[in-house]
Amino acid sequence: MESAMVVLGIETTCDETAAAVVERPGNGPGRILSNVVLSQIEEHAAFGGVVPEIAARAHVEALDLIIAQAMKEAGRSFAALDGIAAAAGPGLIGGVIVGLTTAKAIALVREKPLVAVNHLEAHALTARLTDNTDFPYCLFLASGGHTQIVAVLDVGKYERLGTTVDDAIGEAFDKTAKLLGLGYPGGPEVEGEAKHGDAERFILPRPMLGRVEADFSLSGLKTALRIEAEKVAPLSDQDVADLCAAFQQAVVDVVSDRLRAGLRIFRERFGGPTALVVAGGVAVNQAIRRALGRVASEQGTVLVAPPPELCTDNGAMIAWAGAERLARGMTDTLDVAPRARCPLDGGSEWPRRDAVR
Ligand code: KG4
Ligand code: ZN
Repeated sequence: MESAMVVLGIETTCDETAAAVVERPGNGPGRILSNVVLSQIEEHAAFGGVVPEIAARAHVEALDLIIAQAMKEAGRSFAALDGIAAAAGPGLIGGVIVGLTTAKAIALVREKPLVAVNHLEAHALTARLTDNTDFPYCLFLASGGHTQIVAVLDVGKYERLGTTVDDAIGEAFDKTAKLLGLGYPGGPEVEGEAKHGDAERFILPRPMLGRVEADFSLSGLKTALRIEAEKVAPLSDQDVADLCAAFQQAVVDVVSDRLRAGLRIFRERFGGPTALVVAGGVAVNQAIRRALGRVASEQGTVLVAPPPELCTDNGAMIAWAGAERLARGMTDTLDVAPRARCPLDGGSEWPRRDAVR
């Protein structure tokens, strides 16, 4: 049996400053020893979205304290760690630099292995932290910046089966909220409104429905929603709730249909998956989770949905992905470069500093 590993994980790719300490036993699910997340939502709310310069500055100001708190809550010293992991991308480059540079400094001073983690890979592997899910599984990753169906074959081995051709699903929720005068981030606001809305009053399109390939398109839905909203403006509270319900139902129908296509492609290429796994902020949405549960059982598999705090950005997923890589001897050198963009299926090697494009 492999020996247990304890890893510090640092996440700074977007608007959460997060650090966590996670233990990966030789087998079985992980143990979260601490998981500290500082959200910058209030600092960005007035702008209706994340402002990169504000985010980077806030990460610089908060990160040392967040790491100290994570170490304290875990009750471990730096000397007791087996490795230091940080999200090295994709994300807002200013924030990524802050997190990765801090991880490098700790790794250098404490003489510990450094693991540069792909933020998307961390989302992808969270189901193994929480549920010890075996490979291969089908991942639905839906966040503010990403909408992907991915075959997760092994650590570092991913094949993208489908993606969005325009907006990400989280982005569509955020834009819908903004259009209807709701707060940021839009997902929870729209879901809350949809609970007391009539999904049938407004007719919205279901883009890509029935296509063989597993891609998404969200921008047409957003435009259709704006047209419907303009027809009934000025909007009453009930109008807003009904528009949210119609939007969410359209997303649920599209997601269900696209995941059916994705699971079909998965089975053709890799045989049956061990599970359908959800990750990313959108996976918090209860209506989407319920629909995915139905799709999974219809397709002869099970749904694995990590708890909401592990679906949205956090340090525990970075620490876990770091531990998974470390257990396979996949470490990085101190000249590893931060990256704004890095697809999940683009190979597991990070470029050195002189190779940055
Ligand atoms: O994964 P995440 O925390 O950050 C990244 O984008 O990487 O995802 C945030 C996104 C936002 O677009 C937010 O509106 C969406 O997830 N979201 C939701 C819900 N909660 C968060 N979307 C739909 N329903 C929700 N309950
Ligand atoms: Zn994320």
